[in-house]
Amino acid sequence: MMEKVLSSQSGQPVGERRTENLVSRRVARGTLVLLALFLVSLQVPTLYTAFRPLPPHAAIALSRCRALSLTPGPSVDFYRRKESDRFVPGTKPYLLRNGKVWTGAENGTEVIRADILLDKGIIKSIGHIGHSHLKTYRDNVVTVDLKGAWVTPGIIDLHSHLGVDSAPRLLGATDTNSHHGPILPWLRALDGLNTHDAAYALSVAGGVTTALVLPGSANAIGGQGFTIKLRETAERTPTSMLLEPPYQINASFPDQTDRPRWRQMKHACGENPSRVYGNTRMDTIWAFRQAYDTARKIKESQDAYCVDADAGNWDALKDKPYPEDLQWESLVDVLRGRVKVQVHCYETVDIDDLIRISNEFEFPIAAFHHAHEAYLVPDTLKKAYDHPPAIAMFATHSRYKREAYRGSEFAPRILAEHGIPVVMKSDHPVTDSRYLLYQAQLAFVYGLPENLAIASISSTPAEVMGMGHRIGYVKEGWDADLVVWDSHPLALGATPKQVFIDGIPQLKSPHVVNKPASFQRTPKVPNFDKEAADAVKYEGLPPLIPSKTTSSPVVFMDVKSVFVRADNRVREVYSAQDAELGAVIVQNGTITCMGTYSTCVTPGLLADAEIVNVKGGSISPGFTSFGSNLGLGAIGAEPSTMDGYVFDPLVQKVPAILGGDGTVIRAVDGLSFGTRDALIAYRAGVTKGITAPAHRGFYAGLGTSFFTGATNRLDRGAVLQEATAVHITVRPASFGSISTQIATLRRLLLRPIEGDSGDWFRGVGEGRVTLVVDTDSADIIATLILLKREVEKAYGNIVKMTVTGAQEAHILAKEIAEAGVGVIQTLSKPFPSEWEGQRILPGLPLSEQTSIAVLLAQNITVGIGTLSPAEARNLPFEVAWVALDAGRAISKEEAIALGSTNVEILLGGDIDTDGHDMVVTEGGDILDMQSKVVAVVSPARQLVDLL
Ligand SMILES: *[C@@H]1O[C@H](CO)[C@@H](O)[C@H](O)[C@H]1NC(C)=O
Ligand SMILES: *[C@@H]1O[C@H](CO)[C@@H](O)[C@H](O)[C@H]1NC(C)=O
Ligand SMILES: *[C@@H]1O[C@H](CO)[C@@H](O)[C@H](O)[C@H]1NC(C)=O
Ligand SMILES: *[C@@H]1O[C@H](CO)[C@@H](O)[C@H](O)[C@H]1NC(C)=O
Repeated sequence: MMEKVLSSQSGQPVGERRTENLVSRRVARGTLVLLALFLVSLQVPTLYTAFRPLPPHAAIALSRCRALSLTPGPSVDFYRRKESDRFVPGTKPYLLRNGKVWTGAENGTEVIRADILLDKGIIKSIGHIGHSHLKTYRDNVVTVDLKGAWVTPGIIDLHSHLGVDSAPRLLGATDTNSHHGPILPWLRALDGLNTHDAAYALSVAGGVTTALVLPGSANAIGGQGFTIKLRETAERTPTSMLLEPPYQINASFPDQTDRPRWRQMKHACGENPSRVYGNTRMDTIWAFRQAYDTARKIKESQDAYCVDADAGNWDALKDKPYPEDLQWESLVDVLRGRVKVQVHCYETVDIDDLIRISNEFEFPIAAFHHAHEAYLVPDTLKKAYDHPPAIAMFATHSRYKREAYRGSEFAPRILAEHGIPVVMKSDHPVTDSRYLLYQAQLAFVYGLPENLAIASISSTPAEVMGMGHRIGYVKEGWDADLVVWDSHPLALGATPKQVFIDGIPQLKSPHVVNKPASFQRTPKVPNFDKEAADAVKYEGLPPLIPSKTTSSPVVFMDVKSVFVRADNRVREVYSAQDAELGAVIVQNGTITCMGTYSTCVTPGLLADAEIVNVKGGSISPGFTSFGSNLGLGAIGAEPSTMDGYVFDPLVQKVPAILGGDGTVIRAVDGLSFGTRDALIAYRAGVTKGITAPAHRGFYAGLGTSFFTGATNRLDRGAVLQEATAVHITVRPASFGSISTQIATLRRLLLRPIEGDSGDWFRGVGEGRVTLVVDTDSADIIATLILLKREVEKAYGNIVKMTVTGAQEAHILAKEIAEAGVGVIQTLSKPFPSEWEGQRILPGLPLSEQTSIAVLLAQNITVGIGTLSPAEARNLPFEVAWVALDAGRAISKEEAIALGSTNVEILLGGDIDTDGHDMVVTEGGDILDMQSKVVAVVSPARQLVDLL
């Protein structure tokens, strides 16, 4: 794979050169095979058999033996194909005029202005396509003027469970992991592929055209993966979705001169396979070695057999058929170098183990997936058998378990600097593959070069899966899989205007917005050289505490804008005029002047002031995280690092010593400060977290608001508000029906029980306390609206109610507005992961409106959340994306409010008090990709943190 990547980097047309090599090798091999066949047909290959007929099994055996030396890859005449094997008759040719095309050539640096002609499922030509070219088409060709729009190859996802881990999640369509043992190379993801998954169309709408669907990671060897194209097929079957399926899917052995096709095999090490069988890492690695030892013995017996067969030694082979075993044949193929081994592996110990195994049994590893510590051991990667594996990563999704704890957003960049191929992947539905491009954008923000960032979701995964000969590039002869974008693909919010798979346009009537010229250029990104170096220096745990804190005057120079909180909103109070050099003075953590340099900066002030040039930066309210357990512990999957779950009186007995059913738990008592997720969020401008007690079912307790930069609860300003709101969840549960949960809520509100619970729920009825209900379903929201009315009637008060999750809220926007209910969409980019929330409004290009836009249009107070603590740091990007996607003019003020003031108001935050933290960004405002948070101004703590 490395060789292929390198050859494509030399700038020569890869396809042609490869074909040439292939032809000469193929001619040589073909001649040998013909000669052998000729000799066999004469039955005079050697002395031994010269006068005897061959045994009946000889033909099959010789055919198997001959096939052993074949290496996988495209057939000899592949590049002369006139039509794709996936061509759908009747598909019209398309001429896309005037695109700005990222071709994938020249190490991903080639961008050309070109026309592209698609026909018969392939890219027929690219460049300037004149009339003479089109003569044969007459009027049949559909011509589209792209007007300079960006075009890339279709996005390729190297790690997906699309179709096997289905959306919406249903017990009847969960085929990711078999639990029948650690070693299952004979299982095939193809056999469980659900064709009705709601995600196919959504992922296509995000530009994904091809995915490698892998079994899960519950086993050391989980089974074989399959590459699919995501479009609908006339046949409607899993088989018809496959791209170059290996012949082994039905044990058909074609003409032995045909090269085999690449196969894919899932391996996993570390926590996941250990967790399932009560194994340790030692057990898992032994399971691998034992399996490979079995496969090696079969391989050796085949090789020995073929030595005899080739020598015509049929006496020795008289009653012996060719040795093979259907259960182990795929693993034997791994040892023959004909399988792309895709290894889920996180930690140094696991990577080291697998590289040792690859050398012991002599097979190459195509890629390590997740591999959160790979960037710490590049030299170990280079010691893998045959070539260094590619690394397939998440951009910022880390620390959810121990082996992800040292994950770094700088890993893609660092690995690329070591020449390791970098792939960004979704692990769909762990992250939604519709937004795989977003992962490449984040990798780009944190330093992966532009050419490699686009390649990381196109040409690089194509090469890693052995499909680089037909997908991953925009080149003549390659499959007609393309995305036409509404902006530069790495600009935040980039959205397909059209997606072609096998030459077929996938978006029936796409909704498109025209983005301004500034979105058509390569986005600028901040410099993170020091942070990246520190990630390695500190083995993934660089210090995160602010480097300097000061109460002395700080002069922020070249400030372009200042946004502040005012009247429960965000207002822009300063905006530098064109040539004006804006200055903001902060003393004791309070802004004392903002305006031109000459008005604010006096000579006396400069004497003991800290001067920070923010290069066109901005000051704005800090963001507030909600939706995850941020603040309740360090590593989600490690109970010893977490607060744990509250008792749920609906389904279990609450200990009497705790006060029984009337007890209300306060999240504030379970906070742990200084977690890496919180400090990283702080450094990204998310200065507050609001968190409900962690709960599994209906009952949560009192939320709390805390400062993400604090190191302990006694720090000044660590806890901003002890109790914010009462939180409960109403969702389908295996125990305690939805109707039971509603009945419980009704009772708690209308007939408050003894104890704390009674006080708090009475507070809700009296309009003093906000009730926050987590649910996605429009049906449940409707019921909550009725319940709210009922309670308001009983108490004669307005009840403050907020719905979080709320994926189906757009269906009831008008009613929600009338009822005065607020909404926090915790999954800012909607995805139908559960049945109860599947009626999403998908947004561009599938729908003109987004849920957020619909809710805002009704003047509903709306906020945005993040579901995992590691993603809290991405809140500014999420807000920016949502604002762009809303497809109408959302002002910066409104957008910032979605991630700050609105979230607090909706969750019972006390926003009247002064002293909220402000975030200072360099190079742009908080919503810009190019900006970097350099300071936090804290009136409450009377200081400035310089990061
Ligand atoms: C490919 O691009 C990367 C990043 O721009 C660069 O570091 C690398 O040297 C390039 N490789 C070749 C072969 O030019
Ligand atoms: C086996 O699968 C291949 C596709 O990979 C197909 O062309 C062939 O017809 C199948 N053979 C049988 C016997 O089903
Ligand atoms: C800042 O605070 C310190 C200590 O509270 C005080 O002595 C000083 O006067 C304050 N400076 C300003 C400019 O308010
Ligand atoms: C929302 O508020 C704006 C401004 O106050 C008002 O003009 C508009 O009519 C309101 N929309 C709805 C649906 O109430």
